[in-house]
Amino acid sequence: MSLRPTGIYRLGYVRLAIGPDDDLGAIRRFYGGVVGLLPDERSSDTQVLYRCWHEAHPYSLIFEIGHARGLIEVGFEVANDTDLAKLEARARSGAANPVRSDHAIGLPGLFHSVAIEAPGPLRLRLYTALDETPAYVTGHAAPDWVTPPALRSTCAPLYLNHVGVTVPDPAATVGFLTDVLGFVVAEQIVSDDRQQLRSALLFRMAKDVGGQELAIFAGPRSAVHHVAFTKEDPGDILIDAQYLRAARVRLDPTGPTRQSYGKTFSLHFYDPLGLRLELCSGGRMTEVHPEFEAVVWTESHFDKALSFHDESVSAQFLVASY
Ligand SMILES: [Fe+2]
Repeated sequence: MSLRPTGIYRLGYVRLAIGPDDDLGAIRRFYGGVVGLLPDERSSDTQVLYRCWHEAHPYSLIFEIGHARGLIEVGFEVANDTDLAKLEARARSGAANPVRSDHAIGLPGLFHSVAIEAPGPLRLRLYTALDETPAYVTGHAAPDWVTPPALRSTCAPLYLNHVGVTVPDPAATVGFLTDVLGFVVAEQIVSDDRQQLRSALLFRMAKDVGGQELAIFAGPRSAVHHVAFTKEDPGDILIDAQYLRAARVRLDPTGPTRQSYGKTFSLHFYDPLGLRLELCSGGRMTEVHPEFEAVVWTESHFDKALSFHDESVSAQFLVASY
């Protein structure tokens, strides 16, 4: 018997706007030639859709020309239309102003969705399966599972892992995600008196790198903190750091390091627009079962949580990037 997921079961995509004066060509050169993502053939002069080589879905990171740089939405795939309707009703009762669409909303193959303004605010879109699913680049028949030749010498991450955002009121955002949408808190950082929530890592389904699909941090505005992709292991990531530096990419001075918060080995770096990216491996093996309990960090352990090898984490690392 196969697993029959219900509700939200997958972080689908991160959709970002670039400004009208930003250079989509520079984005293409960076993500295609340095990071090593694969552009969908339906990309255009105003929108580029990327997926990782290990993803059997058409896109997971989208850039499109808008009025200004910023997060358009984070997309989560939902098991079926019945569950989508249930989540829409729950979002309505949670005062999140859900807007149902049964037509194209600017993303190829996506027709049935509900846009949600979660407290934060954090713009989400829940959608049922796209109308087509590409095969793995390696194929499904006796695959080699090795990085495709065209992507060697790039980072070539395996798949989208999580997206980090800042919001002014993380407790409200996390409360909505757990109470209304069924997310589970894997880890959290609280004030030393345990009265204030500073951050939380949330997930819906266990997966290869578990424990976080959304990372919520406190910040003065709603913005993207970082977008993270999965790599096989820390050794891989250290080689990638060399590739990135050889391409004169700006690395974040925090790391490469073990991040005890989320239990990953992580490297952070920046794209041409200043968006912070992460390559990570590891993570907790999490499952949704009744005994599951969140790991709790207090602020006095903040440095250890975010960068195990450093004595302190720079204030700059805590600021949203996009
Ligand atoms: Fe992260």
